[in-house]
Amino acid sequence: MQHKREAFWFYRYLSNFYDKLVNPLFWTESMREKALDVVDWSDGENLRVVDVGSGTGFTTQGIVRRVPAKNVVCVDQSPQQMERAMVKADLERCRFRLGDAENLPFDDDTFDRYVSAGSIEYWPDPQRGINEAYRVIKEGGQALMIGPIEPVNPISKFIASTWMLFPPENDYHLYFHNAGFTDVDWTYVRPHWQENERYGIAIVGTKPAPGTSPNAEGRRSRQALVSAEPGGGWLGRNLLLTGRVVLGSAAGFLFIPMALLAHVSAPLRGVEGDIQPLNKEQKLVLGLIGGAVTLLLLRALTRRR
Ligand SMILES: C[S@@+](CC[C@H](N)C(=O)[O-])C[C@H]1O[C@@H](n2cnc3c(N)ncnc32)[C@H](O)[C@@H]1O
Repeated sequence: MQHKREAFWFYRYLSNFYDKLVNPLFWTESMREKALDVVDWSDGENLRVVDVGSGTGFTTQGIVRRVPAKNVVCVDQSPQQMERAMVKADLERCRFRLGDAENLPFDDDTFDRYVSAGSIEYWPDPQRGINEAYRVIKEGGQALMIGPIEPVNPISKFIASTWMLFPPENDYHLYFHNAGFTDVDWTYVRPHWQENERYGIAIVGTKPAPGTSPNAEGRRSRQALVSAEPGGGWLGRNLLLTGRVVLGSAAGFLFIPMALLAHVSAPLRGVEGDIQPLNKEQKLVLGLIGGAVTLLLLRALTRRR
């Protein structure tokens, strides 16, 4: 999934239930608020902000609590995700642009703040995306990157890396250091059902001088390699893409029942936190899991007899 075309097709259908099944489990309002608070929002009235990989606008909804919506520009490569953000009442005055995080459609030194939440894991070349964050903000501006940290549990680690990139924590620090950011600060975020304190990171840095990132100059980008069309003709390429999207999605969807079970078992495991009640879509998925397990058990029992 860590490929632009795969992510594009994945979100084409995931956008249908993203707000109902994905965010309430993996990227909750309290996580969002904690992450956004690492940034300096004083003088919010005058700040121009770009939200990259803005998706259905969940993080943007946190940004417009701090900055007038008319000052916020949302960028995403998925029209389906963007359409869902555009109809949200509080985002009505934001501006929306289809675009690529690794090649942002803005001049150097345009914004005061850059925010990207939960998108880096789909970027083929994260360093290039963070160099872009540096480029588009003004001198003294801040860039905030929110992303998952490589899981410690080997099963989650395997599923996560089948699906997309979950960088080790140190990589985030390196990306920021390499891009040229100073005054780097960070905090960790996790949903209440997650025991691991270091589930996700919100890392912020300040741009010390105008212009492009010193790292962008003369850097041989991996971009040409990762976006190069694989060989094998049209049919072969599309079969490969379909296979990867199906496999990647299957691995990704495994996270939903795993997280739902972790959510309901959190009080039994003594995990404390801000517990959100399940919505009806989550209850439906849990019901389906329960039904499937019951059927399998019944089948196993009747076979033994
Ligand atoms: C997990 S969603 C996060 C959405 C949103 N930031 C939020 O907080 O809910 C990831 C988003 O990143 C977008 N995305 C992935 N790769 C991208 C790229 N190279 N450029 C722009 N957007 C990208 C996807 O289309 C998707 O909408």
